[in-house]
Amino acid sequence: MDNKSFYITTPIYYVNGDPHVGSAYTTVAADVMARYKKTRGYDVYFLTGTDEHGQKVEETAKMKGMTPQEWTDLMAPRFMEMWKALNVKNDDFIRTTQERHKKAVKKILKTVYEKGDIYKGEYEGKYCVSCETFVPENQIVGENCCPDCGKELRMVKEESYFFRMSKYQDALLKHIDEHPDFILPRSRRNEVISFIKQGLQDLSISRNTFEWGIPIEFAPGHITYVWFDALTNYLTAVGYESNPEEFERRWTNGEVVHLLGKDIVRFHAIIWPCMLLSAGEKLPDKVVAHGWWTSEGEKMSKSKGNVIAPLDEVKKYGVDPFRYYLLREVTFGNDGDYSTKGIINRINSDLANDLGNLLNRTLGMYKKYFGEEIVANGQFEEIDLDAQKLYDETLNSVDDTMSRLEFSRALEYIWKFISRMNKYIDETGPWLLAKDETKKERLATIMNMLVYSLEKIAVLVAPYMPESAQKIWNQLGIEKDIEKALLSDVEGWDLLEPGHKLGNPTPIFPRIEVEKEVKEKNPINKDLKIENPITIDDFSKVEIKVVEILEADKVADSDRLLKFKVNDGKNIRQIVSGIAKYYPEYQELVGKKVLGVVNLEPVVLKGELSQGMLLTTEEKKRVKLVEVDSIVKTGSKIK
Ligand code: MSP
Repeated sequence: MDNKSFYITTPIYYVNGDPHVGSAYTTVAADVMARYKKTRGYDVYFLTGTDEHGQKVEETAKMKGMTPQEWTDLMAPRFMEMWKALNVKNDDFIRTTQERHKKAVKKILKTVYEKGDIYKGEYEGKYCVSCETFVPENQIVGENCCPDCGKELRMVKEESYFFRMSKYQDALLKHIDEHPDFILPRSRRNEVISFIKQGLQDLSISRNTFEWGIPIEFAPGHITYVWFDALTNYLTAVGYESNPEEFERRWTNGEVVHLLGKDIVRFHAIIWPCMLLSAGEKLPDKVVAHGWWTSEGEKMSKSKGNVIAPLDEVKKYGVDPFRYYLLREVTFGNDGDYSTKGIINRINSDLANDLGNLLNRTLGMYKKYFGEEIVANGQFEEIDLDAQKLYDETLNSVDDTMSRLEFSRALEYIWKFISRMNKYIDETGPWLLAKDETKKERLATIMNMLVYSLEKIAVLVAPYMPESAQKIWNQLGIEKDIEKALLSDVEGWDLLEPGHKLGNPTPIFPRIEVEKEVKEKNPINKDLKIENPITIDDFSKVEIKVVEILEADKVADSDRLLKFKVNDGKNIRQIVSGIAKYYPEYQELVGKKVLGVVNLEPVVLKGELSQGMLLTTEEKKRVKLVEVDSIVKTGSKIK
């Protein structure tokens, strides 16, 4: 095991709004990867931060009556707090307004400029004066209108500095070709390749119409526009301008991995590598793009009120289940849907049933059969060796999948081992061996196999669920800090000495009732009280059909009753109804389609057989039959 540097980053987030499930996803994923690499002995550096310059920030601050700096000073801590709440342990938090970053941006701009890769030109495009922004051709609404405010656009020419990106097209294609894992997943790689092959344009990198940005030394009046500012953060944090030794170790000679969402893959897989090629720096080793989350099947939006707030989820389910769900539910790279049902199912089945049960059963049986202390075990048998072999395979598969950031697949392998150990209990049947004094040693071997497996499983799940992994260790009587554990610390099948005292078993993943959660989550009618509730089974006992009135008549000797001959789609039947008072012109009802209950027990009313009941409504003491549009088929069932 070497202690090679592993440097992982998230995008730096815009500070216009609070962090949401999208930013939480990338950040938790990076945290899991950082923690995993630590268990493999890597010297890890994990960076996240905030992207604080630009026109939007300038405008928002103005609206709030603050300076841009005041506004970003208010917002950046919200991100830091959120990451703390999600148990994210980043080593550094970069803010693009920090001095160290401004210096790094100046350095890269100077290097690229001196190389002859930045030139002055004119940016020509459609401009919205009211929004003060250029609108790309493909975003123009209608003939010539702004997508934000709808106002007419103007053709504007503005002096701008350009980065000669086109010059690096071939070098970049060659790099992608020679490094198959440079852009992951593969689908994104193909998308990037075909985009580059369409031809790279030079990139406008400066603006002179607003001020909230880093000034460009060789271009008075201009500030850096987005990319030379934002992307350079990845260099700033590892000493690009301030610490050459650190930079060489972390960037030039270390492994560098960028995690980001699919919407910004082109910036990271095209613009960024071209900038680095020009600056003469190494390219990142991996650019890994994940998909987007929807919420209960729909795009998240404030107006729909379906935005997932990570802190609410953590309050409800706990930080570990939330982290686990994010990374287990979808294949990293694909889009995914966040749902209440989904997270609860994962908690109940993977966490409570599989992992939680394995721990509880093991500790419960150990205490029952041997008391609190580990006893010596005997020789391993074939079934034990098989399980040990599966563990070795699991380690390899986890490493292989994690090297491509395939989090959900790595978890599948870990859970395959957990399931195997649950099955191992059923197959070895410790409760039977416990009845036979001569089988005590075999029983000890089986129980130790289980305890050792749990000790290892805890280290494997720790990157995803650090708190729960620590609880598993504590229940096994291991008081060490699991965050410092290496997978190599738990090698072998003789981990705990005889005499080691086990801790107390308590469930770490309580089961959640799906129904209760879904009902509580319903935001529309949470306070609606259902009076006299019936079940769907009660309702389905009542058969209601569309019936057509064929004849209508008075019932002799009654002011109240009318009798109807109706067609229920199959049969003609007679129904008596107490609505005579409301329908003096009852003949007009002939030909109408109304709703009738057709499985009521027949009764005789005033000498007339009634084989059902017609449904009515009552409003202001006026009773009316429930009429149905004539195009609805006679005999249709109401469900
Ligand atoms: N500031 C730039 C990045 C510069 S990196 C040098 C930026 N910031 S952002 O705040 O708008 O977006 C940050 C990340 O959030 C992106 O990776 C984006 O893909 C991700 N997500 C935003 N909404 C998302 C979902 N609904 N689901 C998953 N991720 C999404 O872009």
